[in-house]
Amino acid sequence: MTTPKPPAACLIGWPAAHSRSPLIHRYWLRTLGIAGGYVIEAVPPDDLRDFVLRLSLRGFVGANVTIPHKVGVMELSTPDARARAVGAANTLWFEDGELRSTNTDVEGFLGNLDATAPGWGKAGEALVLGAGGASRAVVFGLLDRGFANVHLANRTLANAEALAAQFGPNVHPLAWDGINDVLPRAKLLVNTTSLGMHGQGALELDVARLPEAAVVADLVYVPLVTPLLAAARARGLRTADGLGMLLHQAVRGFELWFGRRPEVTAELRALVEADL
Ligand code: ATR
Repeated sequence: MTTPKPPAACLIGWPAAHSRSPLIHRYWLRTLGIAGGYVIEAVPPDDLRDFVLRLSLRGFVGANVTIPHKVGVMELSTPDARARAVGAANTLWFEDGELRSTNTDVEGFLGNLDATAPGWGKAGEALVLGAGGASRAVVFGLLDRGFANVHLANRTLANAEALAAQFGPNVHPLAWDGINDVLPRAKLLVNTTSLGMHGQGALELDVARLPEAAVVADLVYVPLVTPLLAAARARGLRTADGLGMLLHQAVRGFELWFGRRPEVTAELRALVEADL
């Protein structure tokens, strides 16, 4: 008699890079008492199709997907509304025998805000900095939560215009030098650019101009407390950090693969923080 193998998920990327995902998922497997695994699979672009189509045969119940495959896996699976809106998928799972894909950055962003700034302004005006892949997930999430006015400021205005056009009339492109004018109306400010990251330039922005009840979120997590978050906290504003989003985006994948919805605990945060 053969013993069935415990279910395992993997991270598909190329080249093999350091990732915190194994640490996160193995922590949940361990603390929830689930016999399962999570491994990194380095898959070159030429092998992606074969790897994904044989995912189940290889013994995997699902996968995370990272650079450079987030767009490529879309046509190899059935993407949900989030993956389609973001234009990229980071999670694969099987449902009714079909390989599906989603983008958990949307849920990670919203879940982190819900957890760290309960009651954060779900209506009103938001200001999002940056118009890349991460910004797409953020803007989709904000519209989903009922934000009627999302201002999208970007260094290259044309990129903000292109993204805004895809999302419709509630998203307003903004030139980088227009940020100061919108700050006093922004109930939520989100940095999706790499500004503030170690080794990158600083984000020049005066948090004193934000309203008193504003919430500030930064997707950068190295350093954990970016200069933007430090300034916001010094002013007494509520903040949501990039590590929180990273942890919260992992929740959905785990739930889809292993059937239990895990918690983002202080212990998990400390574990991942020590690995940054
Ligand atoms: P991600 O997937 O993390 O969003 P991306 O798709 O490469 O990464 O997008 C990076 C975003 O950060 C873009 O909005 C980029 O602005 P441009 O469209 O002008 O390139 C923004 N960004 C990167 N470096 C920046 C800088 N030094 N100043 C302002 N914005 C910057």
